[in-house]
Amino acid sequence: MLLTQDMPIATRAGDLAFRRDILTGLARSPKATPPVWFYDQRGSELFEAITDLPEYYPTRTETALLAHHGADFLAIAGPGRAIVEFGAGSARKTPHLLRAIAPAAYVPIDISGDFLRASSAKLAAAFPGLPVLPVVGDFNGPLLLPPVIDGLPRLGFFPGSTIGNMEPDAGVDLLRAMHRLLGDDAMLLIGMDRIKDRDRLIAAYDDAAGVTAAFNRNLLVRINRELEGDLPVDAFAHRAIWNDELARIEMHLEATQPLHFHVAGHCFHMAAGETIHTESSHKYGARDERLLLRAGGWEPVQEWTDAEGLFALVLARAKPSA
Ligand code: AVJ
Repeated sequence: MLLTQDMPIATRAGDLAFRRDILTGLARSPKATPPVWFYDQRGSELFEAITDLPEYYPTRTETALLAHHGADFLAIAGPGRAIVEFGAGSARKTPHLLRAIAPAAYVPIDISGDFLRASSAKLAAAFPGLPVLPVVGDFNGPLLLPPVIDGLPRLGFFPGSTIGNMEPDAGVDLLRAMHRLLGDDAMLLIGMDRIKDRDRLIAAYDDAAGVTAAFNRNLLVRINRELEGDLPVDAFAHRAIWNDELARIEMHLEATQPLHFHVAGHCFHMAAGETIHTESSHKYGARDERLLLRAGGWEPVQEWTDAEGLFALVLARAKPSA
């Protein structure tokens, strides 16, 4: 069953936050914008298309791990938990987990409201007895869980290596916030992308069909539409680079000629070759990922990876808070 609330105030606050983040990001040097704003309706659709690309291994690798290790998840986490998914998007991986551990409720959280409502309705139809309680919002900010799940032990589900979008210190802060939100008896199932061959990494973020390039440029389309912008979208080139020092893929939009444009009444200039840094996707080694979890208040219990070691799923238990 699908239980929704409308959140017009959260939506208006979101519009203001978009404007603020883009204006401060473009005024900064070097220019950098938070990746959360990729995900308007079109951006969410383009990300779905990315997950089907031959070069983009994370989604299919993680989905296979979820499909194959359900008995382990059940043995460790047990049935009857409320699953809280952070950044649920289309929630295409979730059915594997729902079937495996027989939860008491499912709370998908996502910033893209229309997208979330559609995927929640589909899930509710596929799991008729399960209360599905979508929450529209940014999990990087303060969140309220639906009171219906008060008293239920929680399983946080944070797949896709979304944690990789954060700088490590912000990732630790987020893990701690999740611990506070979910409680001392919670568990967390988290997906993290591993460090690997650089050509393989770059190909995953600069695919031959140009879908990732369209995803990156769609941010400019969104700015033009929602913030009265006049950015020349075709004058920006998609760039994906591996930053070995920081163990992360960076996506940039590079001005191919000197540019000047406006956003929400403000004037901006870019030199040819200057970029807007639109996303970082941090990759973690096996020890790095455990260190990150422990720093964030979670003790790893078990982890699963594919034969090539491309991607890891880790199940962790909340460390008792002091
Ligand atoms: C959704 C943040 C996990 O970093 O791989 C995919 C987003 N960006 N291709 C990632 C993304 C470009 C994705 N995350």
